[in-house]
Amino acid sequence: MSSPIINRTCRITAIVATFLILTSQSYANDKSLSNTRKAQLTHIVKQDCGSCHGMTLKGGLGPALLPENLEGKPLLFLQNTILYGRAGTAMPPWKNLLTEQEVLWISQQLKAGKIAKQ
Ligand code: HEC
Repeated sequence: MSSPIINRTCRITAIVATFLILTSQSYANDKSLSNTRKAQLTHIVKQDCGSCHGMTLKGGLGPALLPENLEGKPLLFLQNTILYGRAGTAMPPWKNLLTEQEVLWISQQLKAGKIAKQ
């Protein structure tokens, strides 16, 4: 009854659909943080990170975290620095307090200069 071409098209469609669902979920990651959590994270960055990086992120014990300072530094690099800290420096690891997804969001906000402005 069904032709091999239709069968193959169906299979390819199914594979493509699965792929799209999987990738769209990973892209949706930062959108799934609630606004309340985002507000808490902004507060954490200003207070806790700010104690070393400056309340306005212009630097202190730690370097400035403004977009011009982070330009050219990949998101993954920032995310890893925040999650695991930097051995031998004052930069502590945050992996026990923040999730990967939250740290990714913070990294994106820092690069976009959104936290310093609020
Ligand atoms: C106890 C002080 C301290 C606290 C608290 C702290 N940091 Fe740091 N951070 C540092 C220091 C010092 C460095 C520089 C490390 C080095 O010399 O490589 C650094 C480096 C960084 C870098 C890398 C910057 C670059 O240009 O490579 C990022 C990003 C960063 N911190 C983000 C954060 C965030 C986000 C928080 C809060 C969740 C935080 N830090 C809290 C001290 C701190």
